[in-house]
Amino acid sequence: MKRLGVNIDHVATLRNARGEKHPDPFYASKFVTKHGADSVTIHLREDRRHINDFDAKKICSQKKILVNLEISMNSEIVKKALSISPNFICLVPENRKEITTEGGLNLKANKKKLKTIIQKFKKKKIRTSLFIDANLNDILISKEIDVDCIEIHTGKLANLVKAKKNYQKEFLRIKKCAQLAKKLGIEVHAGHGLDYKVTKLLCKIKEIKEFNIGHFIIGESVFDGLPKVIKKFKKIIRNN
Ligand code: PXP
Repeated sequence: MKRLGVNIDHVATLRNARGEKHPDPFYASKFVTKHGADSVTIHLREDRRHINDFDAKKICSQKKILVNLEISMNSEIVKKALSISPNFICLVPENRKEITTEGGLNLKANKKKLKTIIQKFKKKKIRTSLFIDANLNDILISKEIDVDCIEIHTGKLANLVKAKKNYQKEFLRIKKCAQLAKKLGIEVHAGHGLDYKVTKLLCKIKEIKEFNIGHFIIGESVFDGLPKVIKKFKKIIRNN
C-alpha cells in the first residue's frame, strides 16, 4: 500500500504571517490525520521560517500520529531532532536564500557526516530518509551509508509536466532509481512539487511507497477544503 504524508509547514507560514496563533499546526496535524493522511511532515528549518521548536515538540509528542521531521545536517538541529525524537527523519539540504528545498543532498561530499548522523537516529530506532536527486550513483551511496529510505526530489519532473514539456527522460530516470533502490533494500519515497497530475503519473512506479506533499495540498484547500483534497490524493494513490 502506498502512503500519503501531508506536509503542514504552510499552515505555520500562514499563522506566522499574522504573528498570532491561528491557524495552528498542531491542530492541523490532528486534522489531516483524521482525514486520511498516513503521516505528517514538518520541516524545522534553521531560520524557523514556518514550524518552530515548540510546534515540532508538541506535534511529535502525539502517540497516535506518525511524524516525519525534515532537518538539515546542521549539528544543533540534529541534536534538537534527537531530543524531540520523531517517528521518522528526512535529511534535506538547506540554503538560507532558497524559497523551498530546491534539490537533493550532495551525498558524495557529505558521505561521512551523513553516515554518522544516520547512525545516531538508527540507535534511537528512528526511520531515516535522505532527500536526493534522481541519480543512480546517489542510490549506491545511500546503500553504502545504510539509510532506511530515500526520498526522490520530484521538482524537475513536476516542472516539466506543469510546463507541458517532454518529461519522459526525467520520469525514466526516477523509475530506474526507484527500481535500483528497491533492489538494494531501500524504501522509496517521492516529494516536491506534486499535484494531482504528477502524483498520478508517479503512481505508475510501483516501487514508490510514500508521497510527501505540502504546498499543493494547502493551496488547493483554500478552494476545496483539506478533507476533500486529502481524499482525492488518497484515491489517486490507492487506485493507480
Ligand atoms: N519532501 C521534502 C523532503 C521537502 O523538502 C518538501 C518541501 O518542503 C516536500 C516533500 C514537499 O514539497 P511541496 O511543498 O512542493 O509539496
